[in-house]
Amino acid sequence: MATRDDVLRELGLTPRWRLRTTMPAPAVAVAASVAADAPAASPPPTDPDGTREVRIARLAWDAFAADVDACTACGLYRTRHKSVPGVGDRDAEWLFVGEAPGAEEDARGEPFVGQAGRLLDNMLAALGMARGRNVYIANVLKCRPPNNRTPEPAEADACRPYLERQVALLRPKLIVALGKSAASLLLTTDATIASLRGRVHRYRGVPLVVTYHPAYLLRNLPDKAKAWEDLLLARRTVAQSARPDPAEPPSVP
Ligand code: URA
Repeated sequence: MATRDDVLRELGLTPRWRLRTTMPAPAVAVAASVAADAPAASPPPTDPDGTREVRIARLAWDAFAADVDACTACGLYRTRHKSVPGVGDRDAEWLFVGEAPGAEEDARGEPFVGQAGRLLDNMLAALGMARGRNVYIANVLKCRPPNNRTPEPAEADACRPYLERQVALLRPKLIVALGKSAASLLLTTDATIASLRGRVHRYRGVPLVVTYHPAYLLRNLPDKAKAWEDLLLARRTVAQSARPDPAEPPSVP
């Protein structure tokens, strides 16, 4: 079994990804610049009266994956192999959100299982965490866009109720948006990742930190140090956050 040092060496992070004993104060001043707490966008055309959205907002965990698998609200169900609802600890404090499944995820039905996923696992290990232990991993889109193309706005809109339901069921202390696409879709902003990093946003009332997508980090090794700073901000935020009140789930209309 790999030790933490092995993991850091594998990531090329030593010695930079070493936890300092004196931490700067968390960026508790929540960014007010993003509209993530804004009212939900209008329902997709496939749900003109909103009944699908209401039904999804009431799904129990045990019904969730089957519902995603049966979804035909956008055209992606025609080209994907497996739906990729999400994986992890249903009681997790951390929720990591990527853009959409890639080829390996589409084949296996699990998010972040390709090369980028292995780096994500190593990032979790560097934090002393592991997939499935206090961590839940999902994507904004539950089905793979053909050839990994950028999701269409209508596809993201059709899938939005599913992520909202996952957030409501999990009540995570923190969401980590992996990459610009996930951050843009969650925060409904076109801002650059550079401008979104380093502060705490909110999605449906839940603190949200933006960092680079692991696939980007694989191609841009020097930015791993910045990603580590993001994860430390995330960890400090988790330490300071209370769990959202279950009596007030953020996404139930
Ligand atoms: N990239 C993503 O955004 N999500 C995955 O599940 C895999 C790669």
